[in-house]
Amino acid sequence: MRTSERRFDARWIREVRPWALGFVAIVAAAAATARAGGGGGELGPSERAQATLERMTATEKLTLVHGVLGAPWGKKPKPSGAIGSAGFVAGVPRFGVPALQETDAELGVANPGNIRRGDTATAMPANLALASTWDPALARRQGEAVGSEARARGFNVLLGGAANLIRDPRGGRNFEYFSEDPLLSGIMVGAAIDGAQSRPGLISTIKHFALNDQETDRVVLDVRIDRAAARESDLLAFEIGVERGQPGSVMCAYNQVNGAYACENSWLLTEVLKKDWGYKGFVMSDWGAVHSTVRSALAGLDQESGEQLDTRNFMDDLASAVAEGAVPQARLDDMVRRILTSVYAHGLADSAGEGDPPNLAESDATALAIERSGAVLLQNNGLLPLPADIGRIFVVGGHADLGVPSGGGSSQVIPRGGIAAKQYEGRNRAMIFTPSAPLEAIRRQFPHAQVEYDDGRSPERAADAAAKADAVIVFAVKWMSETRDAENLALPHGQDQLIERIAHANPRTVVVLETGGAVLMPWRERAGAILEAWYGGQKGGEAIAEILSGAVNPPGRLPVTFPASEAQLPHPKIEGDPRGAPEGPVGRGGRYGRIFTADTSEGAAVGYKWFVERSEKPVFPFGYGLSYTTFRLQGLKVTAEGNAVKVSASVANAGSRAGIATPQFYVSGPDGARIPLRLAGWSRLALAPGEEGQASVTVDPRLFATFDEAARCWRIAAGTYRITAGFDAESRTESADVSLPASDLPP
Ligand code: BGC
Repeated sequence: MRTSERRFDARWIREVRPWALGFVAIVAAAAATARAGGGGGELGPSERAQATLERMTATEKLTLVHGVLGAPWGKKPKPSGAIGSAGFVAGVPRFGVPALQETDAELGVANPGNIRRGDTATAMPANLALASTWDPALARRQGEAVGSEARARGFNVLLGGAANLIRDPRGGRNFEYFSEDPLLSGIMVGAAIDGAQSRPGLISTIKHFALNDQETDRVVLDVRIDRAAARESDLLAFEIGVERGQPGSVMCAYNQVNGAYACENSWLLTEVLKKDWGYKGFVMSDWGAVHSTVRSALAGLDQESGEQLDTRNFMDDLASAVAEGAVPQARLDDMVRRILTSVYAHGLADSAGEGDPPNLAESDATALAIERSGAVLLQNNGLLPLPADIGRIFVVGGHADLGVPSGGGSSQVIPRGGIAAKQYEGRNRAMIFTPSAPLEAIRRQFPHAQVEYDDGRSPERAADAAAKADAVIVFAVKWMSETRDAENLALPHGQDQLIERIAHANPRTVVVLETGGAVLMPWRERAGAILEAWYGGQKGGEAIAEILSGAVNPPGRLPVTFPASEAQLPHPKIEGDPRGAPEGPVGRGGRYGRIFTADTSEGAAVGYKWFVERSEKPVFPFGYGLSYTTFRLQGLKVTAEGNAVKVSASVANAGSRAGIATPQFYVSGPDGARIPLRLAGWSRLALAPGEEGQASVTVDPRLFATFDEAARCWRIAAGTYRITAGFDAESRTESADVSLPASDLPP
């Protein structure tokens, strides 16, 4: 059995056991029906699914493969039985198969506004912040917290797990995604999914499969990429995420991949996902991503979502396609079996209705912990932490008196405490601020200081006041949103000029960036300190203030490269027409009329790999981040048995404050040719001053391999590989060589 299959089954046994053991105790009537339909209390999920499938009518089967919008649409009310959210799939009550109530939930439950007016949910920091923690335990906690809040509202499917790689720093959804590296993204997304699915009765997706790395033209984009390069980059992130998170569902993306829409792409859905990775769950479409029935069904799509948005409905002629043999009955049965298997594996049939009330104090603590560890200190000339006895602090801009920004689109959470502020960025496009005001939190951290605020609208006025302060903290915001990539890497609305003037007036200026990705900093040399806080979530203001005061020593490390200019990127301009990602859906019978082909010529050389290959120097490299202490890394050791490679190094806290070090290991070779540089693993060590710890990692052998698409396997070439260790992709101070024999690994 392949590893992925084994892990998947092991998880199911774990999920199913409580159901099997506590069967009698579970709502007796419902359980009895389920047992009758599912075939008995001791069956595993697949057997139970098979037993139910065998008793289902053709109509019941079609019901399960067909999803609609869960909220009112046009003049139609929400579907009967729906909570009111992104998606709804009717259940089959006579077998105890519950309806699927689907909500977006990457950064918190995104749909509370639709359920009950005034309902709100905990807004988690951006996934970029979560990724910057490099801490899978925190990602798991995030999943648990969001999962609990979702279950408490009766949702049983989370549209979470956004595993797309950050290929371009201007990508509109980068704040929802994790990183530019497949190992980091895969591990973090897998942990978040695992956390969510640890709540009884919850399936999480992993999405958007695959290569939906830009918003420009997303529905008409054909991403042309070498298949092996895709396997070594974007698909590897998904592969690791699927292995670790065991998501009940995979959401296929809007775009095409090498000439076929992702949701009708048999290479992606059947060859890679289901055959090579042994995936047993079901594939659901993104909302509006279905354009055919027979092609989609044959390619491996198992369930249509939000049918009102699709140009061609999967359901329209699936029944006749099956009757005529254009889609084999076995394929329809496979769709249903997969859906049922996930439903049983994750306990949906055994935990109907709403889950327990969530522990909101724990949600808050999780949001705070993520932002404390996820904000990245980029520059510090000794200005931070600000001294406790500081006299006058001048805070400028970014609505810091009201809250912290959040990213736009389907992941938008209506935060607890209500929307602190809305700033319009074009028609119907509102940036929403989460009510965790940095200004108030700074006042709490510095109770003896005189803390004043200016909205920054007049740079002259702000610069005059700044000159008189002991320290200035400027908040700079760049809003990013689904459906729209940023045109460039600049801060908008004249904020560069504002910072320039203020930093000129007072070099004791801290710039707090609240952005959904890398930005340019023309004023960098003037700034005393720069903190990248991303979108800070429900406790963002508190975490930022704690870092400024030194109550928290920031451990965050960049999950993306900060370039010096757009000219350094594989694509100096994002290709395509920004209007190609319509904000409204096209819907049934609609046509997009054109397809835009994008050559992903950088292949697997995403982010820092591109920079290394081209010998380009970024402003801040991948993996980078400062601390209020310093760490020393030495004594890199590498041992190999066959292709099992273990690496270790000792890390010491050489400063005077406790802190968290994130030593990183990279691999390149053989002879620098095939693999220019790849993150091979990392450790996270909490070290007291003077303390020394050991970082050790077992390297995933796929990171020594390239993918052979013809032979459908990973191939490690015989030769000498170089392992380097350091604190970011550029400063790798230790190196050692390891010789590996040639070997093949299953796909
Ligand atoms: C997004 C998905 C989301 C879905 C449902 C789509 O536009 O791409 O991420 O889950 O809408 O809201």
